[in-house]
Amino acid sequence: MSTSFLGDTAVAAPPALEIRDLVVRYGSGRRAKRAAPAVDRVGLDVAPGETVGLVGESGSGKSTIGKAVLGLQPPTSGTVRLHGRDITTTSLRERRSLAADLRVVFQDPYSSLNPARTVGRTLVEPLRLLGVPAGAAWARARRSLESVGLPADAADRLPGQFSGGQRQRIAIARALVCDPKVVVLDEPVSALDLSTQAQVLNLLADLRDQHDLAFLFIAHDSGWCASSPSGWSCSTGDRSWSPARSSRSPGGPATPTRSP
Ligand SMILES: Nc1ncnc2c1ncn2[C@@H]1O[C@H](COP(=O)(O)OP(=O)(O)OP(=O)(O)O)[C@@H](O)[C@H]1O
Ligand SMILES: [Mg+2]
Repeated sequence: MSTSFLGDTAVAAPPALEIRDLVVRYGSGRRAKRAAPAVDRVGLDVAPGETVGLVGESGSGKSTIGKAVLGLQPPTSGTVRLHGRDITTTSLRERRSLAADLRVVFQDPYSSLNPARTVGRTLVEPLRLLGVPAGAAWARARRSLESVGLPADAADRLPGQFSGGQRQRIAIARALVCDPKVVVLDEPVSALDLSTQAQVLNLLADLRDQHDLAFLFIAHDSGWCASSPSGWSCSTGDRSWSPARSSRSPGGPATPTRSP
């Protein structure tokens, strides 16, 4: 938690993202009560400019945590706060006001983009929903594409005209175009080849540092930690996730950690 000063009084700024005692059971009614929780008492904080990784085997509940943060799966109990604001039970409609601050990049760059819509329209849409005038929205969309290393004229093309790595850059540009505070990255490089993975990870780290973004980074294994720039961190993906952190040993196994 960072500290700022108001007059002579120290004021602790809340984390960008704060998860406390999160429990998620799928299903409804009695079935949900009997079902083993997909996520059981998870807690973690992500500060501005920090990446916290969730690393764990398939089915360990990583995406479920991401969905609970994004409001796509209601938690059974626990709290999710965005810059101190409790968003645990915020309805999807109310979440429109959060749409700029909380964004997501999914694993599959093929299914996450509408193939019939130009890249520009895909990027402009969330801005228009936020009330940004069309001209300014298109200018921001083109700038965002350039910031992820794509030519500005990419805006006029369809997703099918790009490679997998380029599509993932488009998905990142779409996530960043609204100038968010927190980005959930659900296996954002898993579908890419090794050299493209490294490029996209470097790009993400640069963008995080430039914009002081808080990343919740979901991954199957901790390989991305070892192959990534300094400042990435991971926490274990077993069912005893907790806010405890320690330093990451380079290339070592995933342990509860946070970046400096
Ligand atoms: N919509 C759903 N309805 C019922 N059960 C679900 C649903 N989504 C996920 N689950 C279950 O919740 C558990 C956690 O799933 P989740 O998708 O969060 O895992 P994960 O760690 O992201 O796995 P992967 O690495 O394969 O993406 C699994 O047992 C899964 O079967
Ligand atoms: Mg998943």
